Amino acid sequence: MDAKRETFETRLKSGAAEIEALLEHLLSPSVLSDEIARPELLRSAMHYAVLNGGKRLRPFLVVESAALLGGNRQAALRVGAALECIHCYSLVHDDLPAMDDDDLRRGKPTVHIKFDEATAILAGDSLLTYAFDVIAAPETDLPDRAKTELVLALARAAGLGGMAGGQALDLAAEKQTPDEAGIIRLQAMKTGALIRFACEAGAIISGASSDDRQRLRRFGEKIGLAFQLADDILDLTSDTATMGKATGKDAARGKGTLVALHGMEWAERQLRQHVEDAENLLSTYGERAAILSATAHFVAERKS
Ligand code: IPE
Ligand code: IPE
Ligand code: MG
Ligand code: MG
Ligand code: MG
Repeated sequence: MDAKRETFETRLKSGAAEIEALLEHLLSPSVLSDEIARPELLRSAMHYAVLNGGKRLRPFLVVESAALLGGNRQAALRVGAALECIHCYSLVHDDLPAMDDDDLRRGKPTVHIKFDEATAILAGDSLLTYAFDVIAAPETDLPDRAKTELVLALARAAGLGGMAGGQALDLAAEKQTPDEAGIIRLQAMKTGALIRFACEAGAIISGASSDDRQRLRRFGEKIGLAFQLADDILDLTSDTATMGKATGKDAARGKGTLVALHGMEWAERQLRQHVEDAENLLSTYGERAAILSATAHFVAERKS
């Protein structure tokens, strides 16, 4: 493995460990002020949904974007943990029988299999709500203005016009395949929006200029596109043991993906183009953006 890649992977691993320690703390049985009780079954389902492996890519992007622009690291970790709660909620609901109906996630039984459907729905609901709690809480050491901007941006990324809306379009696409523009839009919503938020959040946390914020946002958009394209390629080329989730399901369900539309060669070329575009957006930062650049490569070249 080359040295650059090794540095990146070490950093991704240590970032994941830091985020997991914080998530462990946030999902402990200890009741917070103004919470009445933490029902144990629901809390343990949330804990299972979140602390079950996972690459922790989104929190990593928050922390590293903030690091690039000089933001407060502790605050970035909390925003990253909040975002990971929303990501994990989206996976719990995505795996439900009413959606993709999957039994395996991150190499383990999905939450509705391990617990039950009602608990999985409620664990998702509670993780979604908790994300906004974690950002707004006094322990997140940021100016109120930055918190409001984060809450607004995250709500827009996760809701009707973002991830949840994209999931609705994704389900509709099983019945009627959208055209290319439709597929790009649905993917920008279901996967891209949270990844874009991760990068933009680093700029908000740092109180960065609007130019920096815009650049990070566009970088997030590019790697979001790359991320879902890689997911769709892996669904076709990888296997359950490597991915920790079922593969070959997109074709079986007739999901409209760009790989299905244009074929593998095109998809791989397109993937390389997204990485190049993402790297170009960072050129003004020079070597300081080496980790974010390596992340763009990782997103496209990942094996799981
Ligand atoms: C999987 O996301 C769901 C998609 C948006 C395609 P990740 O591949 O980031 O999943 P984890 O968090 O590492 O398990
Ligand atoms: C899921 O997309 C995106 C969200 C959970 C928002 P997929 O359905 O392709 O994700 P996997 O392949 O199950 O991880
Ligand atoms: Mg899905
Ligand atoms: Mg799925
Ligand atoms: Mg997939």
